[in-house]
Amino acid sequence: MYILKNTGIAVIMLLLLAGCNFRRKPIVSTLKPVDPKQWIDEHTLSNADSVSVKHLHLDIKVNMAEKHIAGTALWTIDNAHNQKELVLDTYDLTIDSILVDGTKSDFHLDSLIEFLGSALHIPINENTKFVKVYYKTGPNARALQWLEPQQTHDKKSPFLYTQSESIYARSWIPCPDGPGVRFTYSARVQVPEGLMALMSARNTDVVNDTGVYEFEMEIPIPAYLMALAVGDLTFRGIDERTGVYAERGMIDDARYEFENVGRMVGSAEQLYGPYQWGRYDVLVLPPGFPLGGMENPRLTFCTPTIIAGDRSLVSLIAHELAHSWSGNLVTNATWNDFWLNEGFTVYFERRIMEQLMGVNYSDMLWDLGYQDLSNTVIHLGPENRDTWLKLDLKGRDPDDGLTDIAYEKGSHFLKLMEVEAGRDRFDRFLVRYFAEHSFKTITTEDFLNYMDTVLIKKDTNLRKKLNIDEWVYGPGIPKNCPRAGNVLFGKVDLERGKFLEGLEPDKMDHVKWSAHEWLHFLRGMPRDLTKEQMASLDRAFKLSTTNNSEIADMWYLLAIRANYSPAFPEMERFLNTVGRRKFLEPLYTEMSVTPNCVDMGRRIYEKSRQNYHPLAQESLDKIVLKK
Ligand code: BES
Ligand code: ZN
Repeated sequence: MYILKNTGIAVIMLLLLAGCNFRRKPIVSTLKPVDPKQWIDEHTLSNADSVSVKHLHLDIKVNMAEKHIAGTALWTIDNAHNQKELVLDTYDLTIDSILVDGTKSDFHLDSLIEFLGSALHIPINENTKFVKVYYKTGPNARALQWLEPQQTHDKKSPFLYTQSESIYARSWIPCPDGPGVRFTYSARVQVPEGLMALMSARNTDVVNDTGVYEFEMEIPIPAYLMALAVGDLTFRGIDERTGVYAERGMIDDARYEFENVGRMVGSAEQLYGPYQWGRYDVLVLPPGFPLGGMENPRLTFCTPTIIAGDRSLVSLIAHELAHSWSGNLVTNATWNDFWLNEGFTVYFERRIMEQLMGVNYSDMLWDLGYQDLSNTVIHLGPENRDTWLKLDLKGRDPDDGLTDIAYEKGSHFLKLMEVEAGRDRFDRFLVRYFAEHSFKTITTEDFLNYMDTVLIKKDTNLRKKLNIDEWVYGPGIPKNCPRAGNVLFGKVDLERGKFLEGLEPDKMDHVKWSAHEWLHFLRGMPRDLTKEQMASLDRAFKLSTTNNSEIADMWYLLAIRANYSPAFPEMERFLNTVGRRKFLEPLYTEMSVTPNCVDMGRRIYEKSRQNYHPLAQESLDKIVLKK
């Protein structure tokens, strides 16, 4: 059941306003024109909007011992507008030489611009078809994490993986690195014998004895979806079009956890149209992976921290799968439009989970999401510019502005559309949206105009109720934000209340609680829990040693606040192995502001830093070392 806050007040306000001849200006008048060529991506230095870049052929060798990738990127281009040069993005790449249509060419590499890297200028003429760049990656490649054997699950072989979103593809491929430019690709990748290489492309499922792997991605994708992983990996099928890759010691658990992934794909198709990418496989990475998941086409990359043993955290896979429509089919034109990727995907993810698990389950996800939204708004400040849906990331590292706002304010805005327009009408709209924008990029303004023409049409009442401007071009949480009226969480609140009044934990009514109910139980605890209260919960529910990473993370946060030291050894183990930024940042932040824990935070960080991804190191250095 969805409740619209303040509907009554809004009706009275409208009646009053109608009497004083007040008219809101029509929403569309505030929008920019819909010419797709009018947007500017401030995070690419490439000119691929004027030189058409068609296809990439990569021929690279992965040197695990020296920790670099070296080889060639061969671009097929069409210079119909007769540009004088092709400009590609690079970051910390060494460019050895360049061939233009087979002939050695001059080139020029600009000096480094912070975050953006160095523009690579290559002279071309009207008839130029092929530009081949001989290059090597540098030690500061932000997309690459090189793992020593002991940093993997099985601790036997080294591992490499890439993470290209948002602007890191340029640190391992010289490319037009903006979400608004798509190209097809093929690749030949040489890796040490015995290891398997996988890409966001058509993949093999066996290790070969040459160490040479060939890939084909015949559907055009933007550079941020380029991905590569190399390691001692093995494959297990789920159904005829889905499966899972993982290290050997992890594959059985992964296969069990992902039992329902095949069904998820079917469920997503039922909602918003055919899955367009052929196979859908999931690769489970070693624990240092800095994200929950990444929607690399045909091959989602995910953290092992969702393998809880009870399938309770698989909504993350529904999320990455949903990106096969929102994000990978219909792509945000710039990072300022990030909510079009993530907000749609969270909405879609929860619709998939509702179909698979029922509405009580998805309502819990909505409720936890609303909590995240309101915490993010408190954390950023209710007037912060970064709380608009339409972002302004000019001159900044996009990663700094890509927050939960896009995910949760974005998805709640779509939920509002669903509630106000009616589910059937909204679903028909979304099916048409995906069909008509497949393999295209889209700006926020394009979307709002499309919505105005196709969904709202002459329904001025609906337009008024949505209050679009406040959502997209205004801060904080709009008053008409919908909220799930969740029965299950209501019961959890009751039990928490009883516990706080002194009820023994084992007398609580918690028998059928899911991981989400536990999470809600802990999230709602006051900041000043005592050590004794923590100890009684730990005795009853063994929270310090839970297998569920979400619950563990929340529990350790409470432990820091209450200075409940029996949980610290387990927390240290967690921090030493897990690299997921979503877990690390709150724990290190809490330790850095809790006088008793500052030293412990520093000590654990010093020991664990090498296990974290370069980008996680960057953000944690600021938190722990105040760099
Ligand atoms: N595309 C994102 C990951 C991302 C976002 C990478 C921004 C770089 C910049 C991915 O789909 C995602 O949202 N992952 C989430 C999990 C999800 C269930 C909310 C994550 O990693 O926490
Ligand atoms: Zn996402």
